[in-house]
Amino acid sequence: MTASTSSNKNPAVLAADPDWWRGAVIYQIYPRSYLDSNGDGIGDLPGITTKLPYIAELGADAIWISPFMKSPMDDFGYDVSDYEDVDPMFGTLDDFKELVEKAHAQGLRVLIDLVISHTSDQHAWFKESRQDRTNPKADWYVWADAKDDGNPPNNWLSVFGGSSWQWDTRRNQYYLHNFLRSQPDLNFHNEEVQEAVLNAARFWLDIGVDGFRLDTANFYFHDKELRSNPGRKPEEESVSTPKTNPYGYQVHVYDKTRPENIAFLTKLRAVMDEYKDTTMVGEIGADEDPHQIIADYTAGHDRLHMAYSFDLLAGDQTAAHIREKVSNLEATINDGWASWAMSNHDVIRVVSRLGAGFEKREASSVLLAVVASLRGSPCLYQGEELGFEEANVAFEDLQDPYGIEFWPNFKGRDGCRTPMAWETTAPNGGFSTGKPWLPVDARHLANAVSVQENDPASALHRARTFLKWRRQHPALIKGDMKFLQLESDVLGFTRTLGEDSVLCVFNLSDQEKTVSLTGQGVTEALEGHGFEFAMDGKVITLPAWQAGFLKLDA
Ligand code: BGC
Ligand code: MG
Repeated sequence: MTASTSSNKNPAVLAADPDWWRGAVIYQIYPRSYLDSNGDGIGDLPGITTKLPYIAELGADAIWISPFMKSPMDDFGYDVSDYEDVDPMFGTLDDFKELVEKAHAQGLRVLIDLVISHTSDQHAWFKESRQDRTNPKADWYVWADAKDDGNPPNNWLSVFGGSSWQWDTRRNQYYLHNFLRSQPDLNFHNEEVQEAVLNAARFWLDIGVDGFRLDTANFYFHDKELRSNPGRKPEEESVSTPKTNPYGYQVHVYDKTRPENIAFLTKLRAVMDEYKDTTMVGEIGADEDPHQIIADYTAGHDRLHMAYSFDLLAGDQTAAHIREKVSNLEATINDGWASWAMSNHDVIRVVSRLGAGFEKREASSVLLAVVASLRGSPCLYQGEELGFEEANVAFEDLQDPYGIEFWPNFKGRDGCRTPMAWETTAPNGGFSTGKPWLPVDARHLANAVSVQENDPASALHRARTFLKWRRQHPALIKGDMKFLQLESDVLGFTRTLGEDSVLCVFNLSDQEKTVSLTGQGVTEALEGHGFEFAMDGKVITLPAWQAGFLKLDA
């Protein structure tokens, strides 16, 4: 095996460490909405580069940049038309190389989104594949004849609405698309396709990226026999399937999470292992047995490093919900590793999901501390460090095709994708001198970075304080986790690594809470994390939306 080192890593800042990703704080950037450097209303790579010191100061260990490869932008970059180039809207390949170099110099690793389950219909591979049934790429996508009555071959549904089969008049066949009809699904049963997407990964690894966030990592394979999925009654709303979406009415046994997927992940891992200190976090969206899938996909050392869980991306973030989901995953995961997020570019921002319709900006700091204290690697989404709530986007301003399709009961993903607010008094919050692709939310402007910088009690300062403090506690980064049964609305667990053992308690309510920790081995209250609590013997009192951290007898 040849170990190629990324030449542009600054060894003084980034120490060699194959395990750096365990417990690393990953800051997710949606490039369209971070900072626009050229006034076209769309964020870009040079914009991100400008803000790397801000991200490093926050205390992130890595960034994950949502797609910036060449794309017609039907799904805003999740529809790639060239795996080996940057879309001109975001800059150039040289801009990206500069970003990587500067990130490394700031001590930040760089993960990029690798979207290989499907391409854009504008990708050269698909343009060739759709020409006829005999061209060299004829089998690179999933093509199927109509049934005798003209209907698609089976009942599979697209996440974004309707059948996942689209008719094509050149081949007189249907092709499969799990998302938009302009996102045809690559046929992973074809070895040449596997080789082609592995080459796409190599291209970016050679440039020096530290790894990938793998889009829809359980969607790569489909059932070769094209069997129809069984039906299911959706009991509860989940991220991939709001009640308004019939996708949730099927058990997706045949169109995703197929057994062949694991062997492909092993091939991808072998490529990763040719490059030092790289990692992969795979997005695993599944309604059935997601924890078992996460365990299977991250078991041993030849599959994914980490699996990104949807558990905390939907629903109310009550203590009971978090305890149930995380402890269940912990009980299943064995030697695997999870990645936790409460917000991202696909879901309603977490502070707007607390209880029936109310938003609690003051809850944002404690929620950030929860996600950064769980066993697993936390992903923070841009704006989460500022306590941003979901933006209100009017129907006329909607950009997300998913939102437009399912309006008005499901509003889509624009509300979490509006631009960052940097300067409270600058036009468009300092995001752009042009007209932003989505409006900057007025409430975000009022809480822009410039405002929070000047307020030591702001969400931003609290996030910095907490993440810096966390770095001093190896237990919070890589330690084991055990949940405590405390009164409702109080989440508690211990994290232990060797001598370092920390008990964490979080008050996820707007009432003061008193908790007895008798018998837990608590020795003293820890300080420096920025939260407020009182300790009287073994009894601690937590004001509303506060947290406590205590040293344990190891
Ligand atoms: C991404 C979405 C995207 C979809 C299709 C995902 O899960 O996070 O933003 O629309 O994959 O690529
Ligand atoms: Mg721009």
